Amino acid sequence: MHCTAKINENLIWVGGNDRRLSLFENVYPIPRGISYNAYVVLDEQTVLVDTADRAISDQFMENIEYALGGRKLDWIIVDHMEPDHAATLRDVCRYWPEAKVVVNDKIAVMIRQFFGEELMSRLHIVKEGEALKTGCHTFRFYMAPMVHWPEVMVTYDETDKVLFSADAFGTFGAVSGFLFADEVDFERDWLDDARRYYTNIVGKYGASVQALLKKASGLDIAMICPLHGPVWRENIGWFVDKYVKWGTYTPEEDGVLIAYGTVYGHTQNAAEVLAMMLREMGVKKIAMYDVSVTHPSYILSDAFRFGKWALLSSTYNAGIFPAMETLLADIKAHALKNRTVAIVENGSWAATAGKQMREMLSGLKDVNVLDGAVTVRSALNADSTAALGELAKALAEA
Ligand code: FEO
Repeated sequence: MHCTAKINENLIWVGGNDRRLSLFENVYPIPRGISYNAYVVLDEQTVLVDTADRAISDQFMENIEYALGGRKLDWIIVDHMEPDHAATLRDVCRYWPEAKVVVNDKIAVMIRQFFGEELMSRLHIVKEGEALKTGCHTFRFYMAPMVHWPEVMVTYDETDKVLFSADAFGTFGAVSGFLFADEVDFERDWLDDARRYYTNIVGKYGASVQALLKKASGLDIAMICPLHGPVWRENIGWFVDKYVKWGTYTPEEDGVLIAYGTVYGHTQNAAEVLAMMLREMGVKKIAMYDVSVTHPSYILSDAFRFGKWALLSSTYNAGIFPAMETLLADIKAHALKNRTVAIVENGSWAATAGKQMREMLSGLKDVNVLDGAVTVRSALNADSTAALGELAKALAEA
């Protein structure tokens, strides 16, 4: 049975959900699933805005067919070629052989890479700011390179003031009946997944996100239709403000991220003591993670959220504890900036993790690693606890 949602008189959500996939991109846990959004616009000519992941292909095809109501499909707009959206493009093209495919020149290259020559004669190539008129509706195209791949563009429906934003403003999480962000408690139930989606998927490309936001600020936007997660029609500014913060690497909240890598629990103990010290010093929010237990995507998300980090690591094989090294590599890969970091190392004979953690963070812009890294020798004692107190003070006051 088709499962669609009417957004307005002529705009229909035809996407679907996957709650079985354990790792999005084979990397990120998605315990709440994910939606693959696509949209049909009914006008004098019919338009499908983006396609969907192969996992939902049967549902997706049925949805398009229902939304078209027996009409032929005239246009397929492709905003992004990543297979979580474009995997079904060739199938859709085969099923609706008269549809022309609206792309930019970079998308055209990727269509040939993914599908060979079959679709090439059907492409209608647009450039920045070009328009497509389908009757009452005028769609205008804006390039959004690196949000999240280099070929990405977004589509603006000037008639209904709808921005089809590709991956931007998307989130992990399946859509369960309620399609609109204003129908759910987004801040309570979705924001963490939205942040984790943004920071891990697009977080490295903050400058590109800022460029897109600048373009979008010149548009009169009544609704944002992303490729994942709820549709925005109210309080859009609130979510845009999150994107401004994330895109500029501005801490979203006052608080401290504590991440520790521990073998027998003594480094964890140092982390717990540090948290108590920070609380007594007036820190209002602390997010603490054992890096061996929590997937780094969650910790990276809180590294964007908070401006202060405390990273504590056992020394392991004369280096950084493995899961901590993975986290630091992830943080480095996402080019985080503007943070203050306290480092604590532990070692029973040759404590070297601290120096190596400092080196890993050294390439990050405006990341201030506090002096006075604390060395724990096996377990906290009076001296190292006092040093930890000094470090906590420096972090709390930073
Ligand atoms: Fe949802 Fe970059 O694909």
